[in-house]
Amino acid sequence: MDKELLFTGTYFVADRVDGIDKVTGKATYSAEHKLPGMTYAVFVCSTIAHGTIKNMSIAKAKNAPGVLDVIYYQNCPPVPGYNPYAKDPAKKGYEWWGLKVFADNKVVSNGQPIAMVIADTIERAVHAASLVKTTYTAEPFDADFEKLKTDNSKLKNMNNYKRGDADVYKNAEFFVEGEFTVPYETHNPMELQATIAVWDGDDKLTVYDKSQGPKSTQSALAGCFNLDQKNVRVITENVGGAFGSALRSWPNVPAACIAAKKLKRPVKLVLTREQMFTMVGYRPYAWQHIAIGAGKDGKLTGIMHHAISNTSKYEDFGEGIVNASQFMYACPNVNTTYKLLPLNINTPTWMRGPGPATGCVALECALDELAYKLNIDPIELRMINHTDVNPVNNLPWSSKFLKECYQLGKEKIGWQNRPMVPGSLKENGMLVGYGMAVGVFGAGRGQASVKGILKSDGTLLLQSAVSDMGPGTSTAMVKIGAELMGIPQGKVAFELGDTDLPPGPTQGGSGSTSAVGTAITAVCNEMKKRLAELAIEHVSTFKNLNAEAVDYSDGEIFIKADRTKKISFTDLLKQAGKPLIEIIKDAERLSAEARKFAMNSFSVHFVKLHVNPVTAVIQLKHIVSTADAGKIIAYNPARSQMVGGAVGGVGMALTEETLIDPRYGRYINSNFADYHVPVHADIPAIDVLFADQPDYIINPMGSKGIGEIALVGVAPAIANAVFNATGKRIRELPITPDKLL
Ligand code: MOS
Repeated sequence: MDKELLFTGTYFVADRVDGIDKVTGKATYSAEHKLPGMTYAVFVCSTIAHGTIKNMSIAKAKNAPGVLDVIYYQNCPPVPGYNPYAKDPAKKGYEWWGLKVFADNKVVSNGQPIAMVIADTIERAVHAASLVKTTYTAEPFDADFEKLKTDNSKLKNMNNYKRGDADVYKNAEFFVEGEFTVPYETHNPMELQATIAVWDGDDKLTVYDKSQGPKSTQSALAGCFNLDQKNVRVITENVGGAFGSALRSWPNVPAACIAAKKLKRPVKLVLTREQMFTMVGYRPYAWQHIAIGAGKDGKLTGIMHHAISNTSKYEDFGEGIVNASQFMYACPNVNTTYKLLPLNINTPTWMRGPGPATGCVALECALDELAYKLNIDPIELRMINHTDVNPVNNLPWSSKFLKECYQLGKEKIGWQNRPMVPGSLKENGMLVGYGMAVGVFGAGRGQASVKGILKSDGTLLLQSAVSDMGPGTSTAMVKIGAELMGIPQGKVAFELGDTDLPPGPTQGGSGSTSAVGTAITAVCNEMKKRLAELAIEHVSTFKNLNAEAVDYSDGEIFIKADRTKKISFTDLLKQAGKPLIEIIKDAERLSAEARKFAMNSFSVHFVKLHVNPVTAVIQLKHIVSTADAGKIIAYNPARSQMVGGAVGGVGMALTEETLIDPRYGRYINSNFADYHVPVHADIPAIDVLFADQPDYIINPMGSKGIGEIALVGVAPAIANAVFNATGKRIRELPITPDKLL
């Protein structure tokens, strides 16, 4: 494709270092690698929710054309990580974390993988998989969240929190109370979960896998197959969206490795869209009960927040649903509880904004209700209860520009046009509503290691085994490196997604830029120091200077006092007789001083929408997303991330809901026709405004995270706008027309 064409109009394509590769199809994703002798695996799945396999007849499948093997619990080779400490208690850390596929004849959820057919083509594997016939001894199961949530004997207590007294709202002058439901929401990234496994002998494994954390997949597999970590290589060059779904390995990963080892051939296993529902985690179903009390002046006196979310029968997955209620606002009395309800479905997992995405639906909608009761503007109510000290640990925030966000968004959305009385404003016959809500997520700095290589041609290569699931990590890292080194961006490259590179963090929790960027900063600072030393030693004009007397720009080192005295990095390396400079550095840990601060990113989302008074169809008109995410490193990718989060929030508010038939524990709408992700026609103009204030306590770039706060708060802002338009408070997401009529 004509490179010039891409640079005109579609600015973000050129703004991303991987943009052109991605839009031209050159970027390679895990399933796309071609290996000689490749074979194709397809899962056979359970059709009951709980029980044991009585009989599985595999003969027909095994004799079908092209079939190489059928693997199930009766012929699956032993997997060391399935039971590592039976013989060796010291191996406890090596246990495979997750469903132990083909370990036994137990069925714990409907759609669980129970066998795997491997054939020479994918079509032959699909056909043969349909020939496997299974009979079961079915047992009673739990799949009906709504029915079981009141059954205390089924609930697992996760945590309780109390500050001041409990349930103080009851005695407040004004209070609101309500129950909220957030349904199962399924990750629907474009890229399906995919693994290609290939063994070199019995002790060396290479895996092309869709993963947000190549290093964590590597150590999980090393444990699973009892291998030296250095003998497991995980490659994840590109990720086609993940949002949390690839934060851990699903059954496809061990299964592909088991088959490849048994067959001594490469095995490719790509989940189907339907299997993305039954085998990959999802946002758990959550029921919440919240109450907030306040005085006439709007000052909060008490918050109560209880939540129950589901997990599976074989693992506990919990998230911080009630946490934001503990610290977002100044309030002397807060009590929260959080419980899990194990069901016979697959284990849920992190999904963009895990915890607060769900919790803020209750908290921010309840605050909106309270604002109407108090007759105080919802933004004003939040300003009244603003706190610069985290009330849970009494630590001041390292930075908090939430008030600035209110102001930015208020002006952009035209908040002054918001009707004070719900349902009182119409435009062209449509009811008009405005709403806002706050989002929050943890910030900080994790571990990362980066290698920098300055080559004799003046290019800088930066390497770390992080992955880039879409936010534009490579672009941000290139920008940081280019700016620090004074090298044009076109001459800087960032290599990632391969465990052979220095260890990088799992991309999650909005933390990549902070951790990897800090390590890049350390590498570049050391690189500049070395360049200065070389110049002082080998270049006569630099003799007797010290490192403070020089600076770096356009791939050159120059003397600050006289900018005409300079030498290019290329010439300097030549003169010093060095082919390259190579440096490895770690991100420094947060200092004890930095730990005296609370660290969060914040967002405020504003929505204007129309509701058709006859059909109750909601048409979003405008979204304004504002964020305090520290200093923005790469503006267009950051903006795109906020836009993508807003779209996810629209899905959460209006369209997305995974349905399970409680009679069978089976997913009903596990396809794109029936599971509604928002499409272009659902999405209005989205404006993104950043406070863009640096936070140098968190890292030397001054950045915080964006990924999660982009979504957290969007759904309640929409729900609040729906109330403003109609006077109807819908506490069960998604807000579909039938609930409004
Ligand atoms: Mo995110 S839910 O940490 O991928």
